Amino acid sequence: LIIITYDRILYYVDIPVTPSRYLEEAEIRVFQIDAINIDDNTRFEKDHFVINPKYKDYIEYILIPEGLLDNRVERMAQQIHQDYKGLDLEVFVIMNSAFKFFSDLLMHIRKIAEITGENINIVPRFFKITSYHLNEQVVDKDNIVMPFSKDQVEGKNILVIEDIYDSGSTIIRCRDSLSQMAPKTLKFAVAFHKKNHKNLKYDFVADYLGFFIPDQFVFGYGMDYNELFREMQHLCVISQKGIEAFKDI
Ligand code: HPA
Ligand code: MG
Repeated sequence: LIIITYDRILYYVDIPVTPSRYLEEAEIRVFQIDAINIDDNTRFEKDHFVINPKYKDYIEYILIPEGLLDNRVERMAQQIHQDYKGLDLEVFVIMNSAFKFFSDLLMHIRKIAEITGENINIVPRFFKITSYHLNEQVVDKDNIVMPFSKDQVEGKNILVIEDIYDSGSTIIRCRDSLSQMAPKTLKFAVAFHKKNHKNLKYDFVADYLGFFIPDQFVFGYGMDYNELFREMQHLCVISQKGIEAFKDI
C-alpha cells in the first residue's frame, strides 16, 4: 500500500501489508520526495503572462509559468551535476515530448560545468516509445517493444529523461526493460508526476522530479495535444474550445 501526501514537505510512505492489517504492524518506510507540489487550486491567469495570441482561446489557464519551470529545471541540473560530475553518463531521452525538458537540463548542466570546471561526459540517445494518444485519452498498449539494446546499457550509468509520469505504463516498462540489461546505475529524471490513481499501483517516483501536478490534461513545455502546442513555453490546461478545435477525428 502506498500513501502519498502532497504536503509542503512530501512523503512517500510504503506500507508492505494489505489494508486489512493494522497499521501498527506495518513496517513504514518514509521517503522525502524533493519536488514542488502544484495543488489542485493552482491557476495562473493567461492575461498575466506573455503568450502567443493565437493560443489565447485554447488555454483555460496556466498551471506552471515558464519562469518557475526554468528555475526548477536549473535546480535539477545542479543535482544531476552533483551526482554525476567526472563520470560518463548515457542519457536516454524519450521522444518526442521530453525534447524541451532535455534541452533545458543539458543547457543548465553545461553552464554549471563551465562555472565549476567539472564536466559530465554526456552521451544523449533518443528513443521513441509509442504509447498511443487520442484526444485527451492515454490509450495503453500492452505490447510495446522497448527500443533499447543490451550493448547500450550494460555496465553503464543510465539516466532516462521523461516529460511526464501519467498512466505510468511507459516509464514502468522502460524501467523493467532497462533494469534487465545490467546497467551500472539506472535513474530517472521526470519533469511532471501526475497525481492520479492509475499510476499509484506502481511503486515509482523519479530520482529527479520537477513537480507533482493535478490530474488534468496539460500541454506545453514539449507536450502536445494531438501533436500541437509543443512549443508553448508555459505548462497549460486546455480549454473546452481547444479540445473541440483540435480533436483528432
Ligand atoms: N498532456 C500531454 N501529453 C501527455 C499527458 C498530458 O497530460 N499525459 C501523458 N502524455
Ligand atoms: Mg504526447
